[in-house]
Amino acid sequence: MINHRSEEFEQILKTVLGNLRTIFGTAENVFILGGSGRTSVEASLINALSPGDKVLVGLNGNFGDMMATICKDMGFLVEPVGRDWNGPIDPADVEAALSRDPSIKTVAVVHNESSTGIVNDIKALAEVAHRHGAIIVVDGVSSVGGMPVNVDEWEIDICATGSQKCLMSPPGLGIVAVRQAAWKRIESSKSYRHYMDFRRLKELADRPMPQTPGTTPVSMVRCLDAACRMIMDEGIENGYQRHVRMARAARLGAKALGFSLSPIGQTSPTLITLAIDDSPAFLDGVMKEYALHLGRGLGKLSKSTFRIGIMGAAANEGPVLETLSLMGQYMAQHGFGVPADAGVEAAREALGI
Ligand SMILES: Cc1ncc(COP(=O)(O)O)c(C=O)c1O
Repeated sequence: MINHRSEEFEQILKTVLGNLRTIFGTAENVFILGGSGRTSVEASLINALSPGDKVLVGLNGNFGDMMATICKDMGFLVEPVGRDWNGPIDPADVEAALSRDPSIKTVAVVHNESSTGIVNDIKALAEVAHRHGAIIVVDGVSSVGGMPVNVDEWEIDICATGSQKCLMSPPGLGIVAVRQAAWKRIESSKSYRHYMDFRRLKELADRPMPQTPGTTPVSMVRCLDAACRMIMDEGIENGYQRHVRMARAARLGAKALGFSLSPIGQTSPTLITLAIDDSPAFLDGVMKEYALHLGRGLGKLSKSTFRIGIMGAAANEGPVLETLSLMGQYMAQHGFGVPADAGVEAAREALGI
């Protein structure tokens, strides 16, 4: 273990922050916090808002609901938009809400809804928010690193993610990108904050040799450093294309196994959502018998769907084919009436292998 205040570690941190800036598509600040994805989402919201402020929250999945809950817990007044989980947040609805109530000065939205698989058009939503003098806070937990996120080009004011998804590192770090336009708000926020105070994080990150407040989770940052280098070595665009190819193959494989893909939420390149009558029973069975870990359905989709993450290192032929193979074997054994290799065959065909 090296000391978090050593020159060696500060150099690592400097390199990681530089690579993260490239991954987020920003020339501005990126901060690393000890915590998880929701730490970075919570940190983003408390720095952007003050108790009593109104915030328009996009609700088209479990993680939009989570943003709304965080906001309520922090004393912010939530105005919902798109509450039916039936498609992307419509920029026209955001426009209408902001026009109706000009006192709403923050829009909070999830980029890639990991529960429904819906992808929201952040560029369009940011444009609308800015036209109304609002800032946009984006949860990019399941998108950053696995699909295009262009913080500067899309003018995202604050974008949050975690280490463990498309950044293919162990869980343990929250990461945020913050653009200049958000600083007035951050400076004036009356939310209680200490460790998560972006002003302190900025002061330390902007030093010639950057630091973080307190004892940095050194081993996690080193893992993230290695992962970022892998992302850079592959080429970010190549990585995005790999996610698209693998998600398409997984969808076709799942379809061949007889799963229905709901008409919404099939655009995500980092996860697929599948429908099944009793998903808890299916997952309990397949996880127990084949030690295969699949994502349970979330929120109001908890009984009717399950999810396969196609993120980072999992977005490769091996994990995708193995997952379809084990699901197929379980299904063939348990009377689902499909050949065990139907999913693998379809996925192979899609991948041309
Ligand atoms: C879109 C999204 N936001 C937030 C979170 C919460 O992240 P964490 O579990 O790391 O706190 C998740 C986790 O799956 C997520 O997918």
